[in-house]
Amino acid sequence: MKKILMVCLGNICRSPLAEGILKSKVNNTKVYVDSAGTSATHQGELPDPRSIEVAQKHGIDITDQRSRPFSKEDFSKFDLIYVMDQSNLNNVLHLSSTTEDKSKVKLIMDELLPNEGQEVPDPYYGGEQGFENVYQMLDKACEKISLKIGD
Ligand code: 4NP
Repeated sequence: MKKILMVCLGNICRSPLAEGILKSKVNNTKVYVDSAGTSATHQGELPDPRSIEVAQKHGIDITDQRSRPFSKEDFSKFDLIYVMDQSNLNNVLHLSSTTEDKSKVKLIMDELLPNEGQEVPDPYYGGEQGFENVYQMLDKACEKISLKIGD
């Protein structure tokens, strides 16, 4: 079983979308996808209503998800850890202890545009268009990831 973790700050806007989108593109009996936040502020909460809505619009239900914080144990539980932005990257790498841990962590948009350092912008304080933009970016990145892992 390949295990992939999507990480953002609150685990209510971007990473729940990334989780839902990737799950929709892979064989879920062969690939396990989860998400987490570097902050525990929204622990136990449903995804943001705007993320639920944009996912729904594209035929994806993410209402089974609940926010949970990223933990050090995730390094051993997952094969790949995709972060949305540089701040997430710094926060996750700060908790890593081995070079193997570090090698699992990648900016998700680097799958599409290697080494460009492109970030998935935090849509929390913006309008609905920001969520559609995030959806489109993650859809392209997850398509690439699904082809890469072959399931
Ligand atoms: P996310 O968005 O990291 O994509 O889930 C955010 C959600 C909540 C907050 C910031 C970003 N917040 O400040 O509460």
